[in-house]
Amino acid sequence: MRTQVGIIGGGPAGLLLSRMLAAQGVDSVVLENRSRSYVEARVRAGILEQHSVQTLTDLGLGERLHREGMEHHGIHLQFPGTKHHLDFPALCGRTVWIYGQTEVVKDLVAAQLDGGPPLLFEVTDVQPEDVDGDSPRIRFTDSDGVPHVLECDVIAGTDGFHGVSRPIVAQAGGRTWERTYPFSWLGILADVAPSTDDLVYAWHPDGFAMHSMRSPSVSRLYVQVDNDDSVDNWSDDRIWEALATRMAHPGWELRTGPISQKSITPMRSFVSAPMRRGRLFLAGDAAHIVPPTGAKGLNLAVADVTVLATALVRLLQEKETDLVDAYSDTALARVWRCTHFSWWMTSMLHRSGDDFDAELALSQLRRVCTSEAAARELAENYTGLPIG
Ligand code: FAD
Ligand code: DHB
Repeated sequence: MRTQVGIIGGGPAGLLLSRMLAAQGVDSVVLENRSRSYVEARVRAGILEQHSVQTLTDLGLGERLHREGMEHHGIHLQFPGTKHHLDFPALCGRTVWIYGQTEVVKDLVAAQLDGGPPLLFEVTDVQPEDVDGDSPRIRFTDSDGVPHVLECDVIAGTDGFHGVSRPIVAQAGGRTWERTYPFSWLGILADVAPSTDDLVYAWHPDGFAMHSMRSPSVSRLYVQVDNDDSVDNWSDDRIWEALATRMAHPGWELRTGPISQKSITPMRSFVSAPMRRGRLFLAGDAAHIVPPTGAKGLNLAVADVTVLATALVRLLQEKETDLVDAYSDTALARVWRCTHFSWWMTSMLHRSGDDFDAELALSQLRRVCTSEAAARELAENYTGLPIG
């Protein structure tokens, strides 16, 4: 088997990269170790920055997004005694869209299987080899148990945080930075109409709470919990009670309904550099993780592959190495901006540490809610800075 770009991992980063390359006449093969139903059901991110929406639309993937997605013009920031709306178009001229990562992945998989480049599910023993030379390859076993060798010009490691690609880059040197936060998010999906127009991010002495949504009839909500907590400790009644307490505001009521999904997500920042070794390029969660508070993880994956696709097309079609040589530094500049923003949002909105930390968080929240400059800084980062 032979292709120009061997892509390890069929999450948003790998599938989007394959689609971007195909649009410019570059072949690829995507190798995914899970099943189609598994990747399409994995509940994760919900917010798309304006550039991510534009990217998907330009690639012919915007039809359902524009029909079923919900354009949002701001967020509510809340802490006891205050609920403040940030108006993104007024602050920075941009908006965001609610469209679940599950839906983005379903659209990408459907497009790929409808005449797009090969996408192989349930492969095993995926192993990149000879990435320092000009002819790397990927060994893998297909879903029928048949071993293969995929000869490539380059390999994209888009296999997420637990994939096989980053360790191979790290063997050649480089470094990592990591921060583990002393709290996690318990997230739920509930079959109930959202109780808010725009998303609510709430600081509360008991801990952070957030109200998001997936559709006019499905709500997505989160509460801050301890790292060693378990979903077994959280009955539906306890979850609704915590959400109602933490998001309480005069004149506002939280609608409750059947909870269809519950899970706990730990909060971590992680950056690995460089994002390249020879002909192996990392993108998305394979190279970095942000805590979800700034809604950046999925958008950062889109930004990485946008830069990578342009660089690979230039390498493979024009034989010019300038953009692939610049890829890691270009991508990391945005990664660190998003890492800082996600850390900042996380620090401002969670209850952790002592009362001194709490007063700092509240002071920062008051600043964002009273200073247009501070609000604009949040809005520009949240809606997405330019790529490149
Ligand atoms: P992934 O989505 O992880 O895709 C990697 C793919 O590679 C997967 O399909 C995996 O099965 C496959 N793979 C792994 N190893 C191999 C291998 N050896 N061979 C072949 N394939 C392999 N972001 C937000 O913005 N908001 C959120 O609310 C949010 N919630 C999250 C909740 C959870 C539990 C997690 C884990 C992440 C969350 N994120 C959130 C982050 C966001 O979902 C990720 O940033 C995004 O999925 C990154 O896309 P990716 O394609 O880089 O990685
Ligand atoms: C969602 C998740 C986030 O982390 C966020 O900041 C906004 C929305 C969501 O799942 O809808």
